[in-house]
Amino acid sequence: SVAEPPVRGYGGLKDQDRIFTNLYDRHDFSLKGAMSRGDWHKTKEIVLKGDQYLIQTVKDSGLRGRGGAGFPSGLKWSFMNKPGWDKDPRPRYLVVNADEGEPGTCKDREIMRGDPHKLIEGCLIAGRAMNATAAYIYIRGEFYHEAVRLQQAIDEAYKAGLIGDDACGSGYKFDVFIHRGAGAYICGEETALIESIEGKQGKPRLKPPFPADVGVFGCPTTVANVETVAVVPTIVRRGPSWFDSFGRDRNSGTKLFAISGHVNNPCVVEEEMSIPLKELIERHCGGVKGGWQNLQGIVPGGSSVPVIPRDVCTDVLMDFDSLKDAQTSLGTGAIIVMDQSTDMIKAISRFAKFYKHESCGQCTPCREGTTWMYNMMNRFENGQAANREIDMIVELSKQIEGHTICALGDAAAWPIQGLVRHFRPQMEQRIKEFQLENGVVMYGGKL
Ligand code: NAI
Ligand code: SF4
Repeated sequence: SVAEPPVRGYGGLKDQDRIFTNLYDRHDFSLKGAMSRGDWHKTKEIVLKGDQYLIQTVKDSGLRGRGGAGFPSGLKWSFMNKPGWDKDPRPRYLVVNADEGEPGTCKDREIMRGDPHKLIEGCLIAGRAMNATAAYIYIRGEFYHEAVRLQQAIDEAYKAGLIGDDACGSGYKFDVFIHRGAGAYICGEETALIESIEGKQGKPRLKPPFPADVGVFGCPTTVANVETVAVVPTIVRRGPSWFDSFGRDRNSGTKLFAISGHVNNPCVVEEEMSIPLKELIERHCGGVKGGWQNLQGIVPGGSSVPVIPRDVCTDVLMDFDSLKDAQTSLGTGAIIVMDQSTDMIKAISRFAKFYKHESCGQCTPCREGTTWMYNMMNRFENGQAANREIDMIVELSKQIEGHTICALGDAAAWPIQGLVRHFRPQMEQRIKEFQLENGVVMYGGKL
């Protein structure tokens, strides 16, 4: 048997440092249970600390958006408080992106199921930081039970005076509303989500203007992911340096990882940012099925990011910078593990089908390009292609990348680029096998 490469010892996150204390809904999720785990503790004092203090705390913690893009949260929220904001008569809103449509991603769902009060308290504190009067939580339509549970928690919070006209007795007025989506992936894109809240078709807007200038109902808005908002109360309570002590420089804090596919125990787990990917899988998932040597590749951040092969997975850390160096991305932290039994070309072809289906059709490179890429991937899957088409699909993906209104075009292009970068020999082999089996050569050339 082949010896497994050693795992770098990282120590793992200790229970007392976990923010999400009720993942998997094991304990009482109601207000009483949440309070027993420390939620809503002295929230009035936190609210009274004011916007500058709260923004600075979030900046000092190094928190970066947990929805996929990793934009520095304190900086983003500070755009709401630009000089002169208090002369602007428009109301201001926090919008929580709970659409969680990225294939492989199911971490926000666990927060809403098990720790809904962390999210609602987070809405109040983040809302106070950006001087917002209300939060809209946009939850994907399929999350029916989560929406019901969240509404129960909101009702409890109103009843206890924690939100509403005098939130926690602080004198600050703050409302929380739920808006249910209807199943379109594109509504997770922040400007499509804003359009959808306004009652229109979920079609992304050009940026700029960014939502902080023109957001929901034309008012200053910040759209933030569920996890980003839900960690804020703990950051403020325990201090920014506590949060910043996890992970590495520019990659701080704890992070929820959703691990699925060919592992022994798929799970959602909170761990320290920058944990080695291999250690994360071995510590929490009981390893890859059949052992690490049976691993073929991993998509480390939801379907929008490029796949990486086993040798890259062995050394990579789960954070923004390490995965960027590996020519992929942390994305949503959704890790899709594929062992040697996976038909990698078919798997990426399936992603291509998804993006083709979910494109809103506004821009030509995305609307036409995703269809072309899917058709080509279909043929690569069967080997019914010519070798030169491998370069053609890369070229096509580059014509889409960066030439569209929203990131869906990029998200469709990147997995295909990753496939060609790392699995080109498999694609060529498939073509060769087809030609030998059928005695034909596709599109000219010699057998
Ligand atoms: P982005 O980089 O365009 O923006 C990130 C955030 O920073 C946005 O809120 C944006 O308004 C803000 N921002 C960026 N530049 C700014 C500026 N100059 N001024 C003011 N604000 C600024 O990325 P985007 O399109 O929001 O997200 C893409 C990511 O979303 C992908 O990497 C993907 O991983 C992830 N994603 C997550 C999904 C999920 O289910 N959680 C679904 C699909 C994609
Ligand atoms: Fe719509 Fe695709 Fe353009 Fe995004 S990139 S706006 S999904 S057509």
